[in-house]
Amino acid sequence: MKKILVMASGNGSNFEAIVEYFRNKDVLIELLCNIEGANVISRAKRLGIKYFIVKFTDTYKFLKDKKYDLYVLAGYMRILPRNVLALGRFINIHPSLLPEFRGLNAIKRAYNSGCKVTGVTVHYVEEEVDTGEIIAARKCEIEQGMALCELEGKIHQIEHNMYPKIIEEIL
Ligand code: GAR
Repeated sequence: MKKILVMASGNGSNFEAIVEYFRNKDVLIELLCNIEGANVISRAKRLGIKYFIVKFTDTYKFLKDKKYDLYVLAGYMRILPRNVLALGRFINIHPSLLPEFRGLNAIKRAYNSGCKVTGVTVHYVEEEVDTGEIIAARKCEIEQGMALCELEGKIHQIEHNMYPKIIEEIL
């Protein structure tokens, strides 16, 4: 059985999509969250997924004696240091067509830029923010008159659709 660790800090909609996708498949999912009280923890409780709340600064100490086949960042909003990244394969999902709109609030920044197309990128994680070899990217058109919340909804739908399948392929 393959074992993956989803790492998240906030809402956790990608975490939930991953859990749903792998239901009844031979993959064990655990959650690491660095923020106490984050919504993703309520999701883990509801879905019956084992979770760990670990301060960012304790990440290496916590992970060094554990082994996962893949570390899946899903809205984990900290930059992981080299010693953590050396523990295995880390992937991340980012709501833009990288290298455009790296960092925080990528959807809003794309929306406000007036560009017509944005998207979602899944990539291997390196020490710098939102860099590393690109595994897959999907485009998302910004239609005329579209509200920001509509674009956000569309982007999240693409994320929920693509991320679990990519994880499965990598495993
Ligand atoms: C997702 O849109 C993800 O792409 C983004 O955070 C959101 C988490 O949503 N990640 C980044 O911006 C990483 N730089 P979720 O908590 O509902 O899965």
